Amino acid sequence: MKVGENGNGVASRWYPETLVKRLRSLACLGSSVTFEEGDAFQLIRRYVNQTDVAFFIDPPYTAGNGKRAGRRLYKHNELDHQALFALLSGASGLVLMTYDDCPEVIEMAADHGFAVERVPMKSTHHEKKFELLISNFGWNA
Ligand SMILES: C[S@@+](CC[C@H](N)C(=O)[O-])C[C@H]1O[C@@H](n2cnc3c(N)ncnc32)[C@H](O)[C@@H]1O
Repeated sequence: MKVGENGNGVASRWYPETLVKRLRSLACLGSSVTFEEGDAFQLIRRYVNQTDVAFFIDPPYTAGNGKRAGRRLYKHNELDHQALFALLSGASGLVLMTYDDCPEVIEMAADHGFAVERVPMKSTHHEKKFELLISNFGWNA
């Protein structure tokens, strides 16, 4: 985050005011929120069989053959997306993921039995784009 995209640091895409708001909200939650630094796969494996655990996962956008913004933005951008879908398809609790809208991701989601919803979002350059909400519960139930 210090370097960001093209050396722009936190001003790259992260909206400093939004970050401040989020950090303040987190501070209000105090000790009920804990942060763990490490490999998410290990953390997911620890809780994957618990029905009272919900996963929200926002992986780096590096899955498709398109622009792969995650590669530019994040130091830790190498991720086995197939393995992530496979692991989460066995989750006992609720799973919600956000991903970039590309055919490779839609196919992976379908292969692993997830529901996919395309939702509009505003990009940094204020273009209208879509991203994907991927879940194991769907929206029409
Ligand atoms: C799209 S960003 C998440 C942004 C965050 N949701 C937010 O609103 O600020 C993806 C993050 O996943 C992290 N990441 C990549 N591989 C990981 C792994 N195996 N375990 C944990 N985090 C990982 C990257 O470092 C990056 O910060």
